[in-house]
Amino acid sequence: MKVGIIGSGDVGRALGAKFASLGHDVKIGTRDVKKKEVVKWLKETKGKVSAGSFPDAAAHGEVVFLCTVGSAAETAVEMAGPERIGSKVLVDVTNPLDFSKGMPPGLFVGTSESMAERLQAKLPKAKVVKAFNIVNNAQMVAPKMKDGTPTMIIAGNDVRAKKKVSSILREFGWEDVIDAGDIAGARWLEAWVPLWVRLCQATGSWNVAMRILRK
Ligand SMILES: NC(=O)c1ccc[n+]([C@@H]2O[C@H](COP(=O)([O-])OP(=O)(O)OC[C@H]3O[C@@H](n4cnc5c(N)ncnc54)[C@H](OP(=O)(O)O)[C@@H]3O)[C@@H](O)[C@H]2O)c1
Repeated sequence: MKVGIIGSGDVGRALGAKFASLGHDVKIGTRDVKKKEVVKWLKETKGKVSAGSFPDAAAHGEVVFLCTVGSAAETAVEMAGPERIGSKVLVDVTNPLDFSKGMPPGLFVGTSESMAERLQAKLPKAKVVKAFNIVNNAQMVAPKMKDGTPTMIIAGNDVRAKKKVSSILREFGWEDVIDAGDIAGARWLEAWVPLWVRLCQATGSWNVAMRILRK
């Protein structure tokens, strides 16, 4: 599969390396292909990887991942070009975190909308799926933990797109994936993250994740 990743931070590089290790063809998008992290990533990542602009990554991917800082998510999509994303699956990994009052963060979108909904409104043809945003980047690509494998929760309007994202998650090792319904479900996946930060502070570890238990 051809995968386009918009954003070359820790998340973009972790997801890109994982896809490449599984044999997929990855293009990571950045505003600066000479950035030292990108150069190092290209050198050290095994598999089919390349770097380009945000538009290059959007054009390359059969599936496109959005992995920019939350405050630049809408700008990044505009820079990538809505026509290049078209009707593709856009996996929104961003979190609209507000650090203006320090730690722990709040949400700059509030709870009556979400970044994923803003993106879906901006890209009406695209199939936006919120996924991966509720864990840290290391767990995104290696979900097995000491206490078991956590649950990944996703949301989006298009059932086939969510099936596609679920199959990617399973390929990455996620055993339990729950579909939380339409894109409005993203409000609560994004709102989980300020709580997650509090849980990390309380437990003294950035490696905490949730598992939904059933009787
Ligand atoms: N870090 C984690 O473990 C984690 C876990 C869950 C969710 N998330 C979410 O995933 C997203 C990415 O996180 P991250 O830690 O990898 O990186 P980040 O530091 O939050 O963001 C870095 C990315 O944002 C882009 N960017 C920054 N300012 C920009 C601007 N003004 N215009 C356009 N693009 C801009 C950068 O572009 P360049 O490539 O050009 O530098 C880079 O790709 C965030 O929304 C974060 O909340 C992160």
